This record gives sequence, C-alpha cells and structure tokens, in this order.
Amino acid sequence: MIKKIAMCVAFASSSMAMQGVLAAGGNAVAGKTKSELCQSCHGENGLSVNPECPNLAGQKPGYIYKQVTDFQKSLRNNDTMSPMAGMVTDMQDLKDIAAYFSSQKSMSQKDGGFGKSSGEKKKLEAGKKLFMEGNNDSGVYGCVNCHGADGRGKDASNQIFPIIGGQTKDYLVKQLMDLKAGTRTNDPAGMMGDIAKKLSEKEIDEVADYLSSM
Ligand code: HEC
Ligand code: HEC
Repeated sequence: MIKKIAMCVAFASSSMAMQGVLAAGGNAVAGKTKSELCQSCHGENGLSVNPECPNLAGQKPGYIYKQVTDFQKSLRNNDTMSPMAGMVTDMQDLKDIAAYFSSQKSMSQKDGGFGKSSGEKKKLEAGKKLFMEGNNDSGVYGCVNCHGADGRGKDASNQIFPIIGGQTKDYLVKQLMDLKAGTRTNDPAGMMGDIAKKLSEKEIDEVADYLSSM
C-alpha cells in the first residue's frame, strides 16, 4: 500500500508539472464569454444549476483542462458532457474557459446550492473520519492526503488533485460509484479507482455527505 502511494505521488509530481503547463496561459476575462454554453449547466459563476452537474467554481484549471480533453478523447464518457466537450475545438478557448471557472469564488454548499448534505451529525462524523484517517481495515488511505485540507486540493502548483469540498452530493456519489464500478477510468495510475473499489456504499454516502456540507 505504502509503496503504491509513493509511486502515485511520484507519478503525480511528474504529470502535475505537465498539467500545469498545459493549462497555463488562460485568460479568465476572455473565458467568461467563451464559457456561455458551459454556464447553462455549470452555472454563470461555476455553481451548477443541477445537482448532477459538478460545480466548477474555484476548481483547479489544470484539472478542468484534463477532464474536458479526457471527454474529447473518450477516456471519460458521459452522455450529456461528452458532446459538450466535443464542441470546444480551440485549445486556447479551453484554457480561457478553465481560467474563468477557476477564478470564481470557490464552490461551497454554505452559500446555498444543490445536493447538500443531510446534516445528520453521526453521518457527518463518520464521513469526516474516513476523509481524515482512511480505513485501516480495508486499506483506504485518508482522502486528505491527496485532496488537501477540507477537500480544497493542494497548493496552486498542484493541478492533479481536484477540489472536492463543497461539491454537490449527487455528483460526488456518482463519481465514486463510477470509479468503484470501473465505468470511470481516467484517473492517473488508477489511483482513485483503487481507493473507490475499497469503499462500501455506506462509506461513499457518508464521505459525500461530509464533503457536500462544506
Ligand atoms: C447540458 C449540460 C452541460 C453543459 C452545457 C456542459 N456540461 Fe460539463 N458536465 C455536465 C455533466 C452532467 C457532467 C458530469 C458528467 C459525469 O457524471 O461524469 C459534466 C462534467 C464536466 C467536467 C468534469 C468536472 C469534474 O469535477 O470532474 C468539466 C471540467 C466540465 N463538465 C466542463 C464543461 C465545459 C468546459 C463546458 C462548456 C464547453 C461544459 N462542461 C458544458 C453537463 C454539462
Ligand atoms: C493517492 C491520492 C488520492 C487519494 C488518497 C484520494 N484521491 Fe480522490 N482523486 C485523486 C485523483 C488524482 C483524482 C483525479 C482523477 C482524474 O484526474 O480524473 C481524484 C478524484 C476524486 C473524485 C472525483 C472528483 C471530480 O470532480 O470528479 C472524487 C469524488 C474523489 N477523488 C474522492 C475521494 C475520496 C472520498 C477519497 C478518500 C476516501 C479520495 N478521493 C482519496 C487522488 C486521490
């Protein structure tokens, strides 16, 4: 387990530099107009208008760029989003759009929004424990180690670990279930799929509840 994680982190360091370079040079002002189509689902300020659409507000630009190109290359598939990704043909436009959404006030369910947590204390505590400490019995590494404090990602130079704190609950549950089932496989070195496969449905519900309470 430890060896695998060290490998993941080493991989993350090399590919994160690459992602940073790929997403660099985006113009947030230009991206505002260029992202009008995207705003119809992901919201004008990146706070989605439907719980099945993820919030993009404050998300790492390198991560946004990678996901859209992964949809374009069919490395990640979704009936709604894949055709939308296909409509972005100019990579400078994509950099500008990513810069726009990432420049918005970071996603938080505290400002309102969809897919909020149940707010049940016991569930939130169980979700927090898994997030911070992982699960020794099943060999799950604490989410905080990669997704950072409060699920806000790591420092700005690290574009590989997405912001998940403040994301909509429905979307978080769907991604973890897709990663567990192996229908989403675009994560680098399979590091997120390996973890999701070890999570029970109860744990997924609890951790998504905790993340969407932020
Ligand atoms: C018709 C609604 C719709 C439109 C328009 C749309 N999206 Fe999406 N988008 C979605 C849905 C639904 C998902 C979640 C897919 C899944 O469940 O895997 C998604 C996922 C994403 C993700 C992945 C986010 C993450 O946290 O992994 C990114 C990035 C994204 N969209 C960017 C865009 C951009 C850029 C545009 C405009 C070019 C756009 N979307 C237009 C519905 C839409
Ligand atoms: C070893 C590092 C690592 C650990 C530990 C980790 N993750 Fe991740 N996670 C990632 C990476 C990398 C991605 C982005 C995958 C990609 O680029 O498509 C990701 C993606 C995700 C996503 C999808 C986000 C989105 O916007 O679509 C969710 C949800 C998630 N992780 C939840 C968790 C939870 C919950 C835990 C703890 C149980 C956890 N992660 C532990 C590395 C990790």
